[in-house]
Amino acid sequence: MSYGLTVLGSVNLDLIVQVADLPQPGETVTGGIYTALPGGKGANVAVAAKRLGAETEIMAAVGNDDYAAQALVNLEKEGVYLDAVRRVDAHTGLAFITVSADGENQIAVASGANAAYAPQDVPKLCSNVLITQFEIPTATIEGALEGYNGFVTVNASPVRTGVDAILKRADLIIVNEGEAAQYDLKNYAGLVAITLGAKGAEMRIGNKVLARAAPPKVNVIDTTGAGDAFAAGLTVALAEKQSPQDALDFACAVGALTTTKLGTQTASPIRAQVDALLGR
Ligand code: RIB
Repeated sequence: MSYGLTVLGSVNLDLIVQVADLPQPGETVTGGIYTALPGGKGANVAVAAKRLGAETEIMAAVGNDDYAAQALVNLEKEGVYLDAVRRVDAHTGLAFITVSADGENQIAVASGANAAYAPQDVPKLCSNVLITQFEIPTATIEGALEGYNGFVTVNASPVRTGVDAILKRADLIIVNEGEAAQYDLKNYAGLVAITLGAKGAEMRIGNKVLARAAPPKVNVIDTTGAGDAFAAGLTVALAEKQSPQDALDFACAVGALTTTKLGTQTASPIRAQVDALLGR
């Protein structure tokens, strides 16, 4: 592998309840099944990228509590470099996730250590590819990007205001349809990938569509983390110099496979599964 990948982002422990139907506002649903699994958009991307074959490190913050070890367990197991993970004076990030029988979810995050991750906690970036998202402070991302010359992927999720400088610096912005409508990307000169749920994804540069891809048909159990896996897949494929169409096909396959099991990192496919699905 001729590149190294840094993920700058969040680490959470996902507390998941599987129910028949998602509760409406003010409604209580009972009879759910509980599972705790490692998550966080940053950690999900890091595990996904490592499983696809990228040498990956994560820059992140966790708390000084018992949740931290549970949240980091897959990163450790997969061999993601953890030297830049800081312990801060807050609880480890916790995500409260409800998943319905048809695989849809609702997520509420108590950011904890992710929100306390300060610019001075981030070491200088040395890799040539960076992926980040908006679950850590804006100033921390801006500080890390100062003087950085590598390829930058920004998965602009969850939607946040005041991030124009970060978006301007990005080489690749990834958003879903809902997020795309909330950012002003019309003058953005770089690559934009828009995920379209079951319809797949599209990648553009300026107004020009470079590629469209439909995801392979799979049996959906849980859509949580599909966007994170897609971001890892697309960035890895572009770093490998795959063509825009091949890269988008690859990313869609990675995202689709991630929906076939409960959770995010545990569902993330290894390279051979993706290649087999694509017949490569
Ligand atoms: O994108 C999915 C992730 O969002 C979950 O793992 C949860 O931790 C939240 O950060």
